[in-house]
Amino acid sequence: MEKFIINSALDMHLHLRDDDMLKLVAPLTSKSFAGALIMPNLLPPITTKEALLSYKQRIKEATKEDIFTPYVTIFFQVEYSYSFLEDIKDEIIAVKLYPFGVTTNSETGVSSMDVEILRPTLESMSKLGIPLCVHGETKGFVMDREKEFLPIYESLAINFPNLKIIMEHISTKEAITLLDKYDNLYATVTIHHLLLTLDDVAGGMLNPHNFCKPIVKRYEDRDALQEVVLQAHPKIMFGSDSAPHQKENKECHHGAAGVFNSPIALQLLTELFEKNGKLDNLNTFVSLNAQKIYNLKPISKPITLIKKDFIVPDVYSYKNEQVVPMFAGKTLAWSIK
Ligand code: NCD
Ligand code: DOR
Ligand code: ZN
Ligand code: ZN
Repeated sequence: MEKFIINSALDMHLHLRDDDMLKLVAPLTSKSFAGALIMPNLLPPITTKEALLSYKQRIKEATKEDIFTPYVTIFFQVEYSYSFLEDIKDEIIAVKLYPFGVTTNSETGVSSMDVEILRPTLESMSKLGIPLCVHGETKGFVMDREKEFLPIYESLAINFPNLKIIMEHISTKEAITLLDKYDNLYATVTIHHLLLTLDDVAGGMLNPHNFCKPIVKRYEDRDALQEVVLQAHPKIMFGSDSAPHQKENKECHHGAAGVFNSPIALQLLTELFEKNGKLDNLNTFVSLNAQKIYNLKPISKPITLIKKDFIVPDVYSYKNEQVVPMFAGKTLAWSIK
């Protein structure tokens, strides 16, 4: 049987939530990944060292069956002082910036993306060598929000040349073009932005499980993302943006944004790279690029993928938590051994 080994997979953008949801979803990542960058958009968001360390502890507890490193982050606040950042620097991998109100739990995000307002905090981070992860969307028309945000990425890149800026979950061909223009810009790409378009959300019957921010876009955007990812562009890392929400919060009026893909991410990536004859580049995309960009030395954790059908479960459950994965009920070509 055909097989492929992924070594030390890293998910550089992951939502693990908390409490029973954390207990349900964390092992679904820690089983197959060596480490993951954990997003801080809890309610309330992680903004203190105390909250950070206790969350890290809860993640360790939830993943204790596996060898797994949670790379934790804090939620950007303009109020962060140099001494606060200096004190927390060794505990975090990055600081995550959300503009106010653009996605799940971003109500305490920054109200202005004005460089002068952000300058003190970003200069401190720059001096301390702390990377900045950004959810880059405006409040414009839903299909244009990322494109409209690109000038902001550009001004951040110019004003803070020593700051590593990660454009999270890029979803447009224009974002790829910008990436190559500035040395200090990097990006993560999700599996859903690589495989889906708006047709998979609203082209036929409405599918809320494919609804996320930024919304999946046009065929030309998806194809452009596939092209750079398949060539393992050195500034692009895998970040699933797996973002679980309760089934009833997705399948309803007011459905939450977020695609839950952790249990199928490696299978889908293997299928995509194999179909395109690029399996040789998969380890670079899913591990080596992140190691270089973030200066990580993950433990060796080889995971064997075999070419054997995997039927995606309809739902994953624990106590009262029920989450529907991306591609629920579908048959994938590769399985984890
Ligand atoms: C989730 C939500 O808002 O729907 N919470 C969260 O994002 N922290 C609830 C959940 O599904 O866990
Ligand atoms: O779809 C999304 N869901 N996009 C985000 O940026 C946040 C995430 C979430 O936390 O649910
Ligand atoms: Zn985001
Ligand atoms: Zn996210």
